[in-house]
Amino acid sequence: MELAGIVLSDNKQGLFVSRLENRVRALGLQNYSDYYRYIHDDVNNYERHHLVDLLTTNETFFFREAAHFEFLRELAKSSAGAFRVWSAACSSGEEAWSVAMTLADALRTGPWEVVGTDISRRVLAKARNAHYAMERIDGIPSAFLKRYCLRGIDREAGTLLVHKMLRERVRFCYSNLLQPRQDLGTFDVIFLRNVMIYFDNDTKLKVVRNLLPYLKNDGFLVTGHAESLTSLNCGLKMLRPTLYQRR
Ligand SMILES: C[S@@+](CC[C@H](N)C(=O)[O-])C[C@H]1O[C@@H](n2cnc3c(N)ncnc32)[C@H](O)[C@@H]1O
Repeated sequence: MELAGIVLSDNKQGLFVSRLENRVRALGLQNYSDYYRYIHDDVNNYERHHLVDLLTTNETFFFREAAHFEFLRELAKSSAGAFRVWSAACSSGEEAWSVAMTLADALRTGPWEVVGTDISRRVLAKARNAHYAMERIDGIPSAFLKRYCLRGIDREAGTLLVHKMLRERVRFCYSNLLQPRQDLGTFDVIFLRNVMIYFDNDTKLKVVRNLLPYLKNDGFLVTGHAESLTSLNCGLKMLRPTLYQRR
């Protein structure tokens, strides 16, 4: 899918077709050609965004791949000046909030900021709400739960809201990795995790090159454990699997 750079592998095509069939039916259209025309004529891009939502996989959870947060914590402690992290492809925000809790703990009152971006407006809305079902919070260390999360009561029972002091330092906005927005500034660390598995090698290279200008000198790029950049000549030095540094 050109807009997102997603390549549909054979085993994902069945899933995609069934989601698309439901959508075509829900719109009262006859077939895919009608749907194609419908998207083509959609001046507000509403249906294009809907299609992105149908195609993307948004699975995520708090403190996913915990070693990355250990690394972040040590790096932040040894940093000077405002520490900035970008959760690129942040899905519904669990990654960005995990980063925020780690930085708040490591830096206390020191200056830090987190930016979360994604191509799906639906998940970005969830991320901004910072409001999660209790079943989703397993990975959050108990000290962080106490310090950075509010447990819902009455009508909100069974849910959790991320504390205002973190919400003030984290912002979410739309950005496509293939054409990142220009106003993000530069970062000490970019999390680019569990999204490149959907890209072919050319797209991966393009995405990584797109992101390089947003990394401070000596800044770090973190990928998911199933993603490797070793076969790409992208100007980053691998320190260990999933951890790369701009030199
Ligand atoms: C599986 S989630 C990963 C979430 C999180 N990074 C993690 O590791 O838990 C992948 C996310 O990438 C987003 N995505 C896919 N293609 C994208 C693109 N071209 N630009 C920005 N985000 C994209 C999807 O919308 C989805 O929310």
